[in-house]
Amino acid sequence: MESTEPSKSKKDSQKVRKNRQKARREFLESMSKEEREEFLLKEKTEKLQQTKYEQKLLDNMHTFPKVYFDCSFCDTLVFKELKSLILQINCCIKTMKSCKMTDLSEAEADQEPLVYSINITSYKDNLQETWERCGVSKFIHSKTPEDIESISLTNAIYLSPDATEDLEDFDPLTTNFIIGGIVDRTVSSKLTLNKANSINPDEQLQCRRLPLQKYLDKKSKFVLNINTVYEILLRYCNSRNWEEAILQSVPMRIRG
Ligand SMILES: C[S@@+](CC[C@H](N)C(=O)[O-])C[C@H]1O[C@@H](n2cnc3c(N)ncnc32)[C@H](O)[C@@H]1O
Repeated sequence: MESTEPSKSKKDSQKVRKNRQKARREFLESMSKEEREEFLLKEKTEKLQQTKYEQKLLDNMHTFPKVYFDCSFCDTLVFKELKSLILQINCCIKTMKSCKMTDLSEAEADQEPLVYSINITSYKDNLQETWERCGVSKFIHSKTPEDIESISLTNAIYLSPDATEDLEDFDPLTTNFIIGGIVDRTVSSKLTLNKANSINPDEQLQCRRLPLQKYLDKKSKFVLNINTVYEILLRYCNSRNWEEAILQSVPMRIRG
């Protein structure tokens, strides 16, 4: 018979929620009445702005340039790795939703940020099943088991850490990207380079690596998580500054 007791992780998250509520109560109580009213009004306005922004994202999703996550490599992944892949894609969604809030310059802050819509291709049954268990976000623009190879792509660049050429400037309004739906634990070299070459015997689909070596001290190859790659793209297409996009996105532990 199934236990009606809450699981340990449920108990933990209840505890975290209670602690958070307590800290908030104490924080609000430490203010004067006027300060508290001002703080709560500001919080409400920001929430409203965020909700409006998220609705705008959903409404305009079809007009954004696209990032495709090529999940054709996921048939060998175990449950834990599939969850990790989904988690990283959810981090991309979080980045997309907070794009308006990132530290853009004053001039840029007035403009609507440009985002890349998130599209999942070539997924297998095991990814689909895990996804259904975790819940699929409405911010995923499209999801298809069709292979990236059979989707007609105009002006797309396959990103791979093994590419021989750096990605340079590109037109964010017309350039789409393909990122390998691969998590760290399954890293084996050249998966995406080989895939790009196989789709692309006549080299119409470009394969590029991010220009990390130019802006980071280490001269070795950098293999990043997909959410970091997505964040760099988003930052770059809004600032057109590689150095800023890379330094603000790549975690310290990787920069060395
Ligand atoms: C964890 S990496 C997987 C690396 C894997 N060995 C491969 O062959 O692509 C996940 C994906 O992020 C992108 N990526 C990671 N680091 C990158 C870099 N330095 N330059 C370009 N793309 C990168 C690639 O699309 C890659 O497939």
